[in-house]
Amino acid sequence: MKNIVILISGRGSNMQAIVEAQLPGARIAAVIANRPDAAGLAWAAERGIATAALDHKAFASREDFDAALAAQIDAFAPDLVVLAGFMRILTPGFTQHYAGRMFNIHPSLLPAFPGLHTHQRALDAGCRLAGATVHFVTAELDHGPIVAQGVVAVADDDTADSLAAKVLRVEHQIYPQAVRWFVEGRLTLAGQRVRVDGGSADGALVC
Ligand code: GAR
Repeated sequence: MKNIVILISGRGSNMQAIVEAQLPGARIAAVIANRPDAAGLAWAAERGIATAALDHKAFASREDFDAALAAQIDAFAPDLVVLAGFMRILTPGFTQHYAGRMFNIHPSLLPAFPGLHTHQRALDAGCRLAGATVHFVTAELDHGPIVAQGVVAVADDDTADSLAAKVLRVEHQIYPQAVRWFVEGRLTLAGQRVRVDGGSADGALVC
């Protein structure tokens, strides 16, 4: 059984998708938020999942917060840490500690549009395709080795909100898939590339 700790900052719909996938061999050990009012915490607690909140505003520095967060995560002995809408920039020490065992999901087709406001930026750039990326977390924001991507077509009348909704549906498919591969021990890192034993066709989702 692989222990998974999921970090959220808000509603946690990706967390919910992973929990509801009921992946064989995976145990959701805890859901931890950096905001005590994160809606996803209540959802997880109602389902009997251990939850914790660690308010980043209570810490003097990013390093102090990350050290306390790592201690809390490690109490659950995670095999994999899953960032699911966890809106914090992480220190290099934190990312190094979880190297090769921490995922993030980002709402763009990386390496395009790292950072914030991805959907508006994709529209402003005239993109015909948009999507989401699951990647291993490294020290550089939104730049780690890519595990899975999902693609949607951009419609002429799309707004940032309508595009976000389309992309979110894709996120809910590729994130459980990527976690499944990790739990099944099928992922191998080779530099910036990720190899999926048994084939990665279903990690390139086109909607
Ligand atoms: C998701 O769209 C996720 O890709 C994005 O925040 C949203 C969280 O939604 N993450 C980032 O922008 C990280 N850079 P959720 O709380 O419903 O999963």
